[in-house]
Amino acid sequence: MVKKISESIEEFRQHYPRVALLVTVQSNLPRAVAVVTAQAKGRENAMAVSLHMPVSYAPPIYAVAISPNRFTYRLIADSQEFGVNFLPFELADLVASIGGSLGTKIDKFQKFNIARDKPVRTAVPILKATYAAYECRLVNDSGYGDHRLLIGKIEAVHLQEGIFTSEGVLDLDKVNPGLYLGNDLYLTALKDSLRNLDRKVYGKR
Ligand SMILES: Cc1cc2nc3c(=O)[nH]c(=O)nc-3n(C[C@H](O)[C@H](O)[C@H](O)COP(=O)(O)O)c2cc1C
Repeated sequence: MVKKISESIEEFRQHYPRVALLVTVQSNLPRAVAVVTAQAKGRENAMAVSLHMPVSYAPPIYAVAISPNRFTYRLIADSQEFGVNFLPFELADLVASIGGSLGTKIDKFQKFNIARDKPVRTAVPILKATYAAYECRLVNDSGYGDHRLLIGKIEAVHLQEGIFTSEGVLDLDKVNPGLYLGNDLYLTALKDSLRNLDRKVYGKR
């Protein structure tokens, strides 16, 4: 197998496909501070995020990497909390709409007619269409290159009933997870490709 090795790294996107999720936020930051108008009105927003990962199970911690240029980042920095929403593949067009528009220009919840569930431990919007969502409290915000790494302690988990196995694994007969391949390409997991490889057995081979 011939491999090309490069030390001039301009683009690295080989970690795709990944789940594309929606980060949501609510802040009492007036629009005035964010976009320089004058209304003492609370603001909420959502953006698409593909750079994200679980960091710890106990305590439960989740991380997202967000550019400081995003309106969402400003709201998170203000409110110190964010929501992580996982949507099915059938709603990939909503992810593309939310990830392709600016909260400084439009109210995405209104424009895309997004229904919400009530959060229980924070004020972040939770999308009704989500099959799983985390309410996170910001515990760390550090800059790495052109993104901020936001570490959130998960305060509440919203799970659609009947779509996870007893071990907590997503049942692919019930949900097609929305994955992102980069370059505006969306896909889902192929059920027929599923293999159950017991690590205890395979670790001893
Ligand atoms: C599929 C997809 C994944 C994205 N992933 C990220 C990401 O991980 N981090 C980021 O800062 N922006 C990401 N973006 C870009 C933001 O979602 C986009 O700039 C959005 O318009 C920001 O909205 P806002 O300015 O209202 O906060 C992604 C966009 C798409 C479509």
